Amino acid sequence: MNGFSSSGRHTLVLSCSPRKAGNSDSAAELVGGEFAARRPGLSLSVRRLSDIDIRACTACDYCAAHPGRCSMAGLDETNRLLSALCAPSPELPVSVIVSPIHFYHLPARLKALLDRSQYSWHLPPGEKPGRDAKLAVVLLAARRRGARLFEGSLLTLRYVASALGLELVEPLTLYGLDAPDALSRDGEAQARVREYARSLVSLS
Ligand SMILES: Cc1cc2nc3c(=O)[nH]c(=O)nc-3n(C[C@H](O)[C@H](O)[C@H](O)COP(=O)(O)O)c2cc1C
Repeated sequence: MNGFSSSGRHTLVLSCSPRKAGNSDSAAELVGGEFAARRPGLSLSVRRLSDIDIRACTACDYCAAHPGRCSMAGLDETNRLLSALCAPSPELPVSVIVSPIHFYHLPARLKALLDRSQYSWHLPPGEKPGRDAKLAVVLLAARRRGARLFEGSLLTLRYVASALGLELVEPLTLYGLDAPDALSRDGEAQARVREYARSLVSLS
């Protein structure tokens, strides 16, 4: 399905690789499967960012004069998507971003989405849209080692979470996943993703 519906509150698992049916999609399905198994009846949405219309922030500064509002709202689906990330189902109030590493950072389309959280930057903490929700993150990369492999992405996510008022929970970082079927052939990595999803359920 193309397009993004904002009707109702649902717990969102967002797969952010441009590569279809790769490791991020597999990890997102595992997280969604675990959520559905542990919270039967949960309003849950597992989506690919590539299917959602995102335009880059133009730095127009409208939000500096009108905190919490974006001049581009309605031009694309970004603001609805950010609102959904900030307002997951109260049954499981955590949103999950799953992403590969591209050149030591987040893929361009995800970075474009995150830059649009600027609309909320000027809001005082008590008025942030995500103040009742948590943000969880699964990052995966091909390299087998590298202490700084996830560092830039996590720094960005920390400040985006702060802009939106979301509480960033401990991320899951996975090394050594390269080919699109690497995760689906790696039982140990799959178990780590499932365990991470279970830990998110037990937070709420
Ligand atoms: C443009 C691009 C840049 C990448 N940069 C890195 C990198 O800096 N470090 C790394 O370990 N892997 C890098 N990778 C590999 C991906 O992170 C890895 O293959 C990952 O499993 C892809 O996940 P996906 O199947 O969900 O797309 C890169 C892949 C692409 C396409």
